[in-house]
Amino acid sequence: MVGRAGVRRSIAVTALAVLCAALPGPAPAQAQSSAKKRAVEPKPRVVPQGSAVRLPTLRSDRRYRDTFLREFDALTPENEMKMAALQPRRGQYDFSAADELVRFARRHGKAIHGHTLIWGLSLPFWLIDHGATDKLGLPLPPIVLPTLPHPLGRVLSDTATLLTGWRRDELLAIMEDHIRTVMRHFAGDVTVWDVVNEPIADDGSLAQSAWHRFIGPDYIELALRAARAADPKAKLFINDFAVEAPGRKLDGLVRLARDLVDRGVPLDGIGLQAHTHILGYADEATLTSTMRRFERMGLEVQITEMDVGTSVLGLARNERLRRQALAYGAAARACNAVKACTRFTTWGVSDAVSWLGVGEAGLLFDRSYRAKPAYTAVREAFAPRGSCAARQALGKRRGAGGDSVPCAGRRVTRR
Ligand code: XIL
Repeated sequence: MVGRAGVRRSIAVTALAVLCAALPGPAPAQAQSSAKKRAVEPKPRVVPQGSAVRLPTLRSDRRYRDTFLREFDALTPENEMKMAALQPRRGQYDFSAADELVRFARRHGKAIHGHTLIWGLSLPFWLIDHGATDKLGLPLPPIVLPTLPHPLGRVLSDTATLLTGWRRDELLAIMEDHIRTVMRHFAGDVTVWDVVNEPIADDGSLAQSAWHRFIGPDYIELALRAARAADPKAKLFINDFAVEAPGRKLDGLVRLARDLVDRGVPLDGIGLQAHTHILGYADEATLTSTMRRFERMGLEVQITEMDVGTSVLGLARNERLRRQALAYGAAARACNAVKACTRFTTWGVSDAVSWLGVGEAGLLFDRSYRAKPAYTAVREAFAPRGSCAARQALGKRRGAGGDSVPCAGRRVTRR
């Protein structure tokens, strides 16, 4: 199911690329305003950088492991903390793969971004909304069976559920149990959680998912409250894609966040996934203003899953790499400029291992683990050349231990 979603998205990205091959990068007005912004040297600040990590590749590929360890401060398990992985059978949790990633992160002093507790995809088979439909393809309401105490009764009602759906109280109990069990298990190690992933539809309404369908629109609020109760110290995020630039989807997310904050529902931040493409990315001014919309509500923001697809028919490789560097640089500069932006994460280490496939070449390192122009653009955005932050970052990569590199003047703080 997830595989199909991934494929669907890559097809969509590629189709967009082909359709838009003739279009330039960002609109000239936007490009101008970001050039003006760049004239003002941003205050040097080192924002922690993260990457999605896959356990099987970490185990088997030395270059992947070494590049991650040398270049990134935090990891997001690419799949190992999704519900399908953690609760493959109802009520039976399997933490083995996720625990191995946590031990690895601990050993190397890397932070962990928990991804993700409640999402409409990557669900275990037993929970999937099989979406019973009528002849017109409209969803049928779930058949509500009484919960029978006998184990055979349980098998019968589970089968009915599989075919028709869940009762609200039943799925709510499953959601709360999952959040409680998982967050308590990782408490202290995972300090930030994507509590709800991808809740907004393209038109700004709440996206369809089993959670939404069977619990109702308040599933988001209930998930956040359960998360706060399970681990009061963890930061709680809502994470979504295609919300970097103005539009109905971003408006929907802003509306949701505003409503939650106003009603005192626990929410600490918004993740902007930033899966994007050289033919249609948000420029620096656009992204800065998006981040500030959430900052004004008192929320943190993070770039949580950035990649920049480069497939365009007939465009030379150098030009593709140059445009990719512009897209990454714009996002990194926006994050550096907005105080509420607390981390910058790419969805993978190198083009060799990416959900987009090797042809899309969406990451900071190429398939041979060589740094691309995008890498330089990101590094320079966070630590302008010659700045104290740059010298410290360089010292850290050379093993001098970062903050111990002396700098004259203002001290650069790591957040
Ligand atoms: C993707 C992974 O990268 C793939 O390996 C997996 O097959 C499907 O999920 N948004 C998200 C991520 O929040 O969890 C998705 O990760 C990419 C899109």
